[in-house]
This record gives sequence, C-alpha cells and structure tokens, in this order.
Amino acid sequence: MGDPSDFCRAASDWSAKQYLKFEDERTRPPRDLLAHVPLANPKCVVDLGCGPGNSTELLIERFPNAEVVGVDSSPDMLREACERLPGRTFVESDLSVWMPGGDTNLLFGNAVFQWVPDHPDVLARLLQTLPSAGVLAVQMPDNTKEPALMLMEKVAASGPWSATLAQANAARNDLPRPEDYYDLLRPLCSRIDIWHTHYNHIIENHVGVVEWFKGSGLRPFLAPLAPEMREAFVSKYTDEIRLAYPVRSDGRVMLKFPRLFILAVR
Ligand SMILES: C[S@@+](CC[C@H](N)C(=O)[O-])C[C@H]1O[C@@H](n2cnc3c(N)ncnc32)[C@H](O)[C@@H]1O
Repeated sequence: MGDPSDFCRAASDWSAKQYLKFEDERTRPPRDLLAHVPLANPKCVVDLGCGPGNSTELLIERFPNAEVVGVDSSPDMLREACERLPGRTFVESDLSVWMPGGDTNLLFGNAVFQWVPDHPDVLARLLQTLPSAGVLAVQMPDNTKEPALMLMEKVAASGPWSATLAQANAARNDLPRPEDYYDLLRPLCSRIDIWHTHYNHIIENHVGVVEWFKGSGLRPFLAPLAPEMREAFVSKYTDEIRLAYPVRSDGRVMLKFPRLFILAVR
C-alpha cells in the first residue's frame, strides 16, 4: 500500500487508482441506494460524479435498456471510467452548473454532493428538471464528526503546515440535517425518503485507514502541501489514527462510516 506515485497524483487531481483500493467497500452504498430506486425501465439515467465508473457499472447492470451517462469533473476518474466501460458516454462537467437533458428519468449521485458547494440548492435545481415520476437518488458521507475526519482538522491546525491549510479551507462542512433537506426538497416532489446507514468497514490496519482517506477526505489537506510536508502530515495523521481506532480481536481496524441517503420522486 502507498505507492508514492499514487500519493503525488492524489494531491493534484482525484486518483482513480487510489480511490479503487477500497472498491468493494466504496461500491456498497451505491448498491444499497440503487436497491431503493423505484424505476423499472428508465430511458435515460445519469451517474453524477461517476468517478472511475464503479457506480455507473451498477446502473448499467440494473437498467440494460437505458442510455446510461456518467458526469464527473476529474480527468483521471473519467479516463478510468472510459477504460472500464468502453462505448459508454462520459462527460467532463462541474455539477454546480451542469444540466440534464429533458428525457432524463434518474439522476444518481453517489458520494459526490458533499464536494459540491451549496449542494442543497444544486439538488433542488436538479430535482426540478425531472419529469413526473423521475427520481433523484443521492448518498453522501455524513462523517464529519467521526474521529478520522476530526483528526484531519486537528493535525492541520498543529503543524508547520497550519497557515497554508487554514488558507486552503480544507475541512469539509457538516451536512445539513435530514429535516433541512426534507423542508427544501419536499415541496418539489411527490415522495421523499431520507435515511442514514452506518457502515462498519473492516480495514486491514491503520495504514489502510489512512490509505482510504488519501483517496477522498485527505485530498484537500494534502494538495496544498509540498511533497516532504505531505509525508510529515500523513505520518502525524497515521499516529493519531492509531490512537483513535484500537485494533479489534483479529488485529484489524473497524472504521465506522455514517452515510446519508436521499431518494426523491418527482
Ligand atoms: C467519492 S467519488 C464517487 C465515485 C462513484 N460515484 C462511487 O460511487 O464510488 C466522488 C467523485 O465526484 C467527483 N466530483 C467532485 N466534485 C465534483 C463536481 N463539482 N462536479 C462533478 N464531479 C465532481 C470527483 O471527481 C469524484 O470522481
């Protein structure tokens, strides 16, 4: 684990290779979300923040007759998605401004909207583009109060990188409450379901936990730092993770991961 070239790539763009080190665990939430989508034969399905195509593949399997399109802002993720699913359409775009075509029946966004500024407004805008019975299905990590995320902020505030990282505004904002999403989206749809699932991922060891977050939440903390500073940050963060997550009876580590799901039917 921890090939240095992945480490550097992760600092500049999303790294599909780093992200996919935990593909099975990361693909479980979109599988669970998709199981709740009440559509039988949609014409056009869009995977918002499709990443390396793992969630897109689920959509293609479930809806073999639909036109399934992936949208993402990361060139590296899109390259991987195109290789994984040749012949499919992938679009490079920022979801803050992207608009679906009029015949879209399902907008599926797994683990993306937590990265989109003012995402509740974006969700409301996207929901309103759907035809009657169209579905907006979204999952976001709701883990900003978990030790793994809190420790990123703690380490960021206490090292020689603190001024750089204070400027970078690297920490993720807390998600709004389920009630807030409900009040915003309920007037725009005929049915809405909002729930949490807490996954308890079993990770081989503490370095594995750090590798997990190098593919996601650590990226904004590492990106602004020079390589040697990045290495020192990761080393200090790993020490903190060791203290916060005791090893279990089999020597592995349990990573609790709360996620918020929203399913709205237009
Ligand atoms: C955590 S990955 C999710 C990948 C995949 N959907 C899955 O289920 O595992 C988040 C993806 O969102 C993309 N992303 C982040 N912000 C975005 C934005 N504003 N517009 C489009 N894509 C964005 C990233 O490039 C990344 O590929």
